[in-house]
Amino acid sequence: MEKDILTLGIESSCDETSVAIVKNGREVLSNVIDTQIPIHEKYGGVVPEIASRNHIEAISRVTKKALKDANIKLEQIDAITPTYGPGLVGALLVGVSYAKALSFANNIPLVGVNHIQGHIAANYITYKELRPPFICIMMSGGNTQIIYVKEYTKFEVLGKTRDDAIGEAFDKVARVVGLGYPGGPKVDSLAKQGEPNIDLPKTHFDQDTLDFSFSGIKTAVINLHHKNPEIDKANLCASFQKTVTETLMGNVIKAMQKTNIKTIALAGGVSANSYIRNEFMKLEKKGIKIYMPDLKLCTDNAAMIASAGYYNYIKGKRDNMSLNAIPNLKLDQ
Ligand code: KG4
Repeated sequence: MEKDILTLGIESSCDETSVAIVKNGREVLSNVIDTQIPIHEKYGGVVPEIASRNHIEAISRVTKKALKDANIKLEQIDAITPTYGPGLVGALLVGVSYAKALSFANNIPLVGVNHIQGHIAANYITYKELRPPFICIMMSGGNTQIIYVKEYTKFEVLGKTRDDAIGEAFDKVARVVGLGYPGGPKVDSLAKQGEPNIDLPKTHFDQDTLDFSFSGIKTAVINLHHKNPEIDKANLCASFQKTVTETLMGNVIKAMQKTNIKTIALAGGVSANSYIRNEFMKLEKKGIKIYMPDLKLCTDNAAMIASAGYYNYIKGKRDNMSLNAIPNLKLDQ
């Protein structure tokens, strides 16, 4: 029998300090998430400098708890796998520096992980049978991309947003209609009480591209609300959700036609959205296989990073003490 591989994932790219221990890329032994949402709530968004300071305060405590929860000693860990991009540079640096220190002091291999690769890997934890190739629609606060996952560590970005990320648009809509931060979950629940009966614009690019744009619809919602403050907020949220979902699905269908792949995985914080999940599930009736991470694995967490770290590790990726935070790290570079 082959030896089990234990990876210790570290996530600090935005406002969650998280450390997790995962066995063989799929089995979560612990996943400690220390969220800063209540700290940033009063500013209406993440304040980068405050995020970095809070990561520094949390990282050691969170790591100790992750080892304790998993009942694992540091010496048993095969690789330390931190997120090194994309994300906020100061926040990323905390996780990367801590990982380098752990690796150096304990002589454990260091293996950097791309945050987006982590979001994709959240699906491997939820579905033990899922293997590449598949198409991933990655939707978060900082990214919106359609990714052709060719192998565990090989990706082609087929399309991406040309302006706002979809999560950013959700958060902005929520702020304008007075729902607070983070807006995505609040838009999701208010939309359930409304009807999608308001016409909102969709940006169309030429036939060949799988790129997105969400700034037009975001501005349209803001303008509608400013011109008519009495507008039904639930209907506005429901209409916004319906329109962006149609845009997402349209491009995913194009990606399937382009690649001839009929397996779709959702990823990123916005994949927790109940309307988006329901609409994608309807595609199963057409013979398309849909995967979506457990709700607790959609938003930032280190278990998904440890899973991706495992696949990088078994592929032979190793980093050294020059590993640095790369705020705009690309998936397919
Ligand atoms: O993946 P994530 O935790 O962080 C990034 O890596 O960006 O995503 C955070 C984003 C936020 O914009 C948040 O509003 C959105 O995910 N989000 C949702 C829902 N839950 C979180 N958006 C829509 N519906 C939800 N239920």
